[in-house]
Order: sequence, then C-alpha cells, then structure tokens
Amino acid sequence: MIIDGSVEALGQMLGMLGGEPCLVTCSAVLDVLTTDQLAAVCQAVIDNQVPALFSLTVTGTATMDPADVQDRSLLAAFNDHQRRVGRPGPDAVELAVNALWAGGLTVRTQETPWQLTASSDSVFVERLLQERLDAAVAQDPGLASAATTWFQLRCAQLALGMLRIEVGHRDILALPAR
Ligand SMILES: C[S@@+](CC[C@H](N)C(=O)[O-])C[C@H]1O[C@@H](n2cnc3c(N)ncnc32)[C@H](O)[C@@H]1O
Repeated sequence: MIIDGSVEALGQMLGMLGGEPCLVTCSAVLDVLTTDQLAAVCQAVIDNQVPALFSLTVTGTATMDPADVQDRSLLAAFNDHQRRVGRPGPDAVELAVNALWAGGLTVRTQETPWQLTASSDSVFVERLLQERLDAAVAQDPGLASAATTWFQLRCAQLALGMLRIEVGHRDILALPAR
C-alpha cells in the first residue's frame, strides 16, 4: 500500500497503520523542506520506529570540468537560495542524520552524486543548469548577466562533448533498533 501526502501528515499516516510493517521513503525532498517540516518527518519516523530511506538529498556541492571563475559565486547563491526562509537546504542531510540518530535509529548514508557528461540527456542537463541559475539569480539578481554568459558557455561545452558535471547528493537509510 502506498500512501502519498504532505510531510506534515506523516505522523498521523503512520499512526493509522497501527504498527503494520512499512517503509517511509522519498527522493529529492528533504532539501526543499523547512526546518520544522524536516524535524516533523524525522520525529514521525522516530515515534513510530519505522525504517526510512531518504534518497537524493542535495548536499550543496557541484563541480564542473572545465572549471570557470563564476562557478563558486553561482553555486554559493544557489545554496543560499536553498536555505531561504528557514530551510536547511544543503544542510538537510546532517540535520536529518543527527535527529534520527538521536532518536535511537541506526543511520547509514551513501554519497550518490549525479555524474553528467555529454552522453547524458543534454535536454536534462541544460534544464538542470538553467533551474540552478534561476535559483541563484533569484537569490542574487546582480548575478544575472554572469549567469547568462556562464549558461551559454556551459551549453557550448556540452554540445562539444567537453563538459563534465558532478552534483552532490546523499542517501540516508535509517533503521529502527529492533
Ligand atoms: C525536487 S522535487 C522531487 C520530485 C521527485 N520526488 C523526484 O525525485 O523527482 C521536490 C518534491 O517535494 C515535494 N514537496 C515539497 N514540500 C512538500 C511537503 N511539505 N510535503 C510533501 N511533499 C513536498 C514537491 O511537491 C516536489 O514534488
């Protein structure tokens, strides 16, 4: 049985299962939650002592080869945007791991970076770069012109087959003590 819903209702949903075996899982969600929502998710897992697999949480790292002078400022603005309005953003993994561990669960993490090259889906890569730039410029409008030039450069490098991108993600597996 798959139950889909907002994280705020997770505790209630798990309570309704009455201890029936289940797994809490999501992908690419923890880093978009607020600190309170993230705490609520971890507390629901702790209170119900259920296994959880949180995959593909952004860790805030991204490396480009070849490197460019704008890489660092654009990444910093992207990460600050992820942290806007009380969101842990790239700090979500550490917060969740510490909360789940303090709640008595056995916690393991695994780095699961996206490694993208010219042989990856170029439409996907361009969309990923554009969405990250949109977030960076929303955070710091002063980066707009640098972002446009950077995007054109990266698309040209992608088309020439010379761009390699690694975007940091981490998976978290939390298992109840029993
Ligand atoms: C980056 S997308 C990931 C989508 C999909 N899980 C994936 O792996 O491609 C983030 C997802 O988190 C969901 N989300 C954001 N806030 C949420 C909340 N409070 N409760 C449940 N889902 C939420 C959004 O609806 C969105 O689908």
